[in-house]
Amino acid sequence: LGNGLARTPQMGWNSWNFFACDISEDVIKETADALVSTGLAKLGYNYVNIDDCWSEPQRDSKGQLVPDPQTFPSGIKALADYVHSKGLKLGILRCRGVDYLKYDNCFNLGIDPETRYPPMRDALNATGRTIFYSLCEWGVHDPALWAGRVGNSWRTTDDINDSWASMTTIADLNDKWAAFAGPGGWNDPDMLEVGNGGMSYHEYRAHFSIWALMKAPLLIGCDVRNMTQETFEILTNEEVIAVNQDPLGVQGRKVYSYGPDGCYQVWAGPLSGQRLAVVLWNRGSKPATITAKWASLGIESSTSVSIKDLWTHKHVTENKVASFSARVDPHACEMYIFSPLAVASSAS
Ligand code: GLA
Repeated sequence: LGNGLARTPQMGWNSWNFFACDISEDVIKETADALVSTGLAKLGYNYVNIDDCWSEPQRDSKGQLVPDPQTFPSGIKALADYVHSKGLKLGILRCRGVDYLKYDNCFNLGIDPETRYPPMRDALNATGRTIFYSLCEWGVHDPALWAGRVGNSWRTTDDINDSWASMTTIADLNDKWAAFAGPGGWNDPDMLEVGNGGMSYHEYRAHFSIWALMKAPLLIGCDVRNMTQETFEILTNEEVIAVNQDPLGVQGRKVYSYGPDGCYQVWAGPLSGQRLAVVLWNRGSKPATITAKWASLGIESSTSVSIKDLWTHKHVTENKVASFSARVDPHACEMYIFSPLAVASSAS
C-alpha cells in the first residue's frame, strides 16, 4: 500500500501470543517501559500492539468501541499518550485513530476478505493520519495476489502456535508467496513465538532467522518484562535484524532441500550491495552437514565469496569458491552473509 509506511517490515511487540486475553493498560505500559530499558526499542522494535480483549463486547450509543473499564480504566487515548511519550507507537486490533491497525477477519458474515478489507483502507486514508494497515485475514483468498493494493502486510496463513510443527509449516506456506512482498507491503506469517517456552533455543533461533530472511514482520510475542538471556540474545541479534530491514526488501526463499523428507534445506535471498543472506537449516533429527552450492544461489562457481556467520559474528572465510558446507545441529540453523568478491581468474 502506497501510504509511505512499511518500506521495511514492521517491528515491535504484540500482546496476543503470550498474554492472549489476560491484558491490561498496566501490562501495555510496563511492556513499553521494558522495550525501552532493554534496548529493544533502539534496535527498531517500536510498535506496541494491543491485540484482542481490550474492548467491551458492546459498542456505545454512538457506535464506538469502548475499552474494558476494569482493565483499561484510563482509556486508549491516555495509553497512546504514554506509549508516544516513550518514543514508541501504539497499535490495536480493530479500532481506528492509532498508529497501527490490525484488522481481524472474525465476524466477517461470510464476506470475502478481498471485498471486506479495502473500505477500511479508505477509511484509514480519510483520517488524515498515516496508519499502518495490517490485514489479518488468515490467508483466506490468497491475499498476496491482491492485498498489496490494500494493506502494508497481510497474513498468509492461519495462526501460529508455539511449536516446531506450527512454525515450520507456516514458514513453508509463506515461502510460496515470496514474489509478492516488497517495500510497502509484506507477507505476514504471523507473530514471533520466541521466548514463550514451547520450542528449544535452536528452534527459536531458526524461527527468528527464517522470519528475518522472509522479510516477515518482526513482532515479538513474549513477555519482554521477563526474558531469559537466550531469548534476549536471539531478539537482539543486530546482524539478523539488518537482514530483515535491508533496504532492497526482497523476501528470501527456500532455494532447495534434500535428504530424508527434504530436511536439509538451503534458504537464501539477495541483500543490498550485491550480498546474499544464506541460511542452512537442518529440519531433521540428527546432526548433518549441509552444503550451499554457488550454482543454486545464482553465483558463478569460480566467484570467490567472503562469508560472515551472523550468530557467531565471525568471518568464516574470505575466499570460498563453488560451495560452502557446515555442520548443523538437529532443528538448528546457521545464518550467513555471502559477499561475492570477484570472479577468480582462471589458471593460465
Ligand atoms: C485471530 C488472529 C490472531 C489474534 C486473535 C485474537 O485469531 O489471527 O492473531 O489476533 O484473532 O482473538
